[in-house]
Amino acid sequence: PPIADLVDLNDMQIAAKNTLSGANYAYYRTGALDEITYNNNLFIWEKLRLNGFSFVDVSNLNLATTILGYNFSLPFFIAPAAQAGRASSGAETNLVKAAGAAGALYVPSISSTQSIQTIGAAAAPGQVMFHQEYIWSDQNRLQTELQQIEAAGFKAIFLTVDNTGVNGIRDRSLRFEGGGDTGHSATFTIQALNQLRNMTSLPIVPKGVKTAHDVKLCADLGFPAVYISNHGGRVVDLAPTAIEILLDVHNQYPEVFSQLEIYADGGVRRATHVLALIALGVRAVGLGRSPMYSNVYGQQGVSKMISILQQELITEMALLGQSDINAWRGNTTFVSIPKIH
Ligand code: FNR
Repeated sequence: PPIADLVDLNDMQIAAKNTLSGANYAYYRTGALDEITYNNNLFIWEKLRLNGFSFVDVSNLNLATTILGYNFSLPFFIAPAAQAGRASSGAETNLVKAAGAAGALYVPSISSTQSIQTIGAAAAPGQVMFHQEYIWSDQNRLQTELQQIEAAGFKAIFLTVDNTGVNGIRDRSLRFEGGGDTGHSATFTIQALNQLRNMTSLPIVPKGVKTAHDVKLCADLGFPAVYISNHGGRVVDLAPTAIEILLDVHNQYPEVFSQLEIYADGGVRRATHVLALIALGVRAVGLGRSPMYSNVYGQQGVSKMISILQQELITEMALLGQSDINAWRGNTTFVSIPKIH
């Protein structure tokens, strides 16, 4: 369909399905095993209620926030997803430019189609990007890439700590092609994570943390932030959703919210999903598949995807009687789970 006909982020997925080869669509779309986590990510929102207030002046709405101390116009960001070149010849460059134009954060994957240098060089003046890295068993590779990331101007590392050792088993993709990346370290422990901090001067944010226990561990180890994620349901099937993990954190370690920033992702397709996560204390929310799907329209498609979600956020915040996203953050009275007594 023409880009003007795309109304929401689900339309982006349908457009990608209709445009891409079977193998390329399956690569983006697939989850692990029975895809129960993939599906739970999409449907957990049905269990939540957002509590709005009516007698509020919402004539000035603010979506701007800081992420690791850097200013961004939006509280959501483009999460690392491998191989943008499967959607568009402009690949990651399209994502850099669309993010830059919107004042949004983009965090390219280390398994990108384009090089670290090409992606870094596509940034607009003053545009801040972070970069994802995996824990390769090859220490030289790790050291070299961390240096390249720093030299290319990226300001932080999202270090992915799930999907280590082995890849998730993804049937949809396996029906077309092989299992993908190898070489991740299977011997990664908290000691190795600590040593890694000596390999770069950039702040390191563990990504793919899936239990309240590990969130607390990262807080106590002094990481500036932690990224709760089940990798879009691509790694451990039956893994909990970010919402469930956040509820555990609130119950077990509420103090961590003042110790470090928390990012989260998985199944976010609507402003209401962004708002639910932020009400539970999340600083910024990641989008994995939607940017990849919208990239079938190139940079314009990614910009359209961002502006749809931005417009939804402005509307929903106004309807909920909340003018500042930073005032919404962490106030758990704004989100609830209905109970029948
Ligand atoms: C990913 N994700 C991911 N994460 C990461 O740290 N490094 C990577 O290289 C990739 N690659 C990747 C490829 C594809 C095709 C997808 C869909 C996802 C996970 C990603 O960062 C994010 O956690 C999830 O995609 C979020 O879920 P949604 O938004 O896709 O539902």
